[in-house]
Amino acid sequence: MGEWPTPGSVGMIPLVSRRSGTLAGRCRVPGDKSISHRALMTAAIAIGRTTIEGLLEGEDVLRTADALSALGVGVRRHDDGRWSVDGVGVGGLVEPSTILDMGNSGTGARLMMGLVSTHAFNTHFTGDASLVKRPMARVARPLERMGASILARSGCRLPLAVMGTAEPVPIEYELPVASAQVKSAILYAALNAPGETIVIEPQATRDHSELMLKYFGATVASEPFGTGGRTVRLTGLAELQARDLRVPSDISSAAFPLVAAAITEGAHVTLEAVGTNPLRIGIVDTLREMGAAIRIENERRFGEEPVADIAVKGGALRAVDVPANRAPRMIDEYPVLAVAAACASGTSRFRGLGELRVKESDRLSAIADGLARCGVDVEVSGDDLMIEGTGRPPRGAATIATHLDHRIAMAFLVLGLVSQEPVAIDDGSPIQTSFPDFVPLMRALGAAIETRA
Ligand code: S3P
Repeated sequence: MGEWPTPGSVGMIPLVSRRSGTLAGRCRVPGDKSISHRALMTAAIAIGRTTIEGLLEGEDVLRTADALSALGVGVRRHDDGRWSVDGVGVGGLVEPSTILDMGNSGTGARLMMGLVSTHAFNTHFTGDASLVKRPMARVARPLERMGASILARSGCRLPLAVMGTAEPVPIEYELPVASAQVKSAILYAALNAPGETIVIEPQATRDHSELMLKYFGATVASEPFGTGGRTVRLTGLAELQARDLRVPSDISSAAFPLVAAAITEGAHVTLEAVGTNPLRIGIVDTLREMGAAIRIENERRFGEEPVADIAVKGGALRAVDVPANRAPRMIDEYPVLAVAAACASGTSRFRGLGELRVKESDRLSAIADGLARCGVDVEVSGDDLMIEGTGRPPRGAATIATHLDHRIAMAFLVLGLVSQEPVAIDDGSPIQTSFPDFVPLMRALGAAIETRA
């Protein structure tokens, strides 16, 4: 068995996974990526020193830490694994003398664009070959309404420059797409604007920014809007006070061992201290509808965020029809849910997945192409994805292109654990963005995942 390269290794990392025995054990997946970005950013503009425990040390979050350092914030990792952030207060960031390279991270890029847009200086952003393809107009439009100017490459893609405004204005903005990143970019911009900024989301999205800002003392409130939406109000020129915090484990990372165990007969796996924010756990509801035996145990809170241990037992699954309005509660889990559907009996339908086309890769195509290569019948119709499961292990015997997408990489490695023949991926290096110890953690549960020569 080859050694798993340490984080920071360069170059492509081809990996292969093969049919494994049953999976068993307890494990703790790394910190939540969304919450980790917000923890660093909020601490950066609070007054005083914040200490963060359980921060995700994946590439994406490290880019946000570097960006904040370039903006004059003291960000440091300590030997015991904790991070400290010496905040500069709302409005206290300084112009960076370097281009902020946000790597693969859409969340890092979009939220940081919001944060700097109400500071009176210029900031240049770039990213990797995946991030420079992703749409930024969705963030640029509301930030321009608040007074910033944004000069981007054609199609409003990175690299781009944000010319921050000295006189920000609060806005009322209804989101045209269900996106927590867009909502959060506006909220982080609004912290340094006078008056009340209002964001209306026709479908509620993850509320980690609201909870984090509230934890640090901001005045932020939300109320229901229409069917399943929310209106969020934030009072600007906030004074945020540093507060120590713990980051829950990421449900979006937990989803990989969760599904791997759910599709493996006799498996029994417990995932500890996972964030169970109701706006994130659509995957648990969906797997339960498919017949998975999942128990939520030991419920508690880390700050404003709910946390629990999630125990799953493997067994037969049935097909499921997932409504479009559930997508925001499990938007990052479709790649691995598609793997569960490929192993279930019957035809599953996932509705309203248009947003998957603008993730780290075009995930709708990547899922459909990859499953077809593994011998699964799959169809994309408009924004819906149909997957025919036979209730038997898929054939496998394919090499999957991961397109710089960590979740495509991990999802197809999970598929290989139950396929008749191994499944290979061309490049596992993107896994470093969100789940650096994915391979050793899965191996400890009994998964046969190896590096390929
Ligand atoms: C995120 C929001 C989602 C999600 C992403 C993280 C966040 O993106 O896919 O991985 O932390 O706000 P969208 O806002 O584009 O839906």
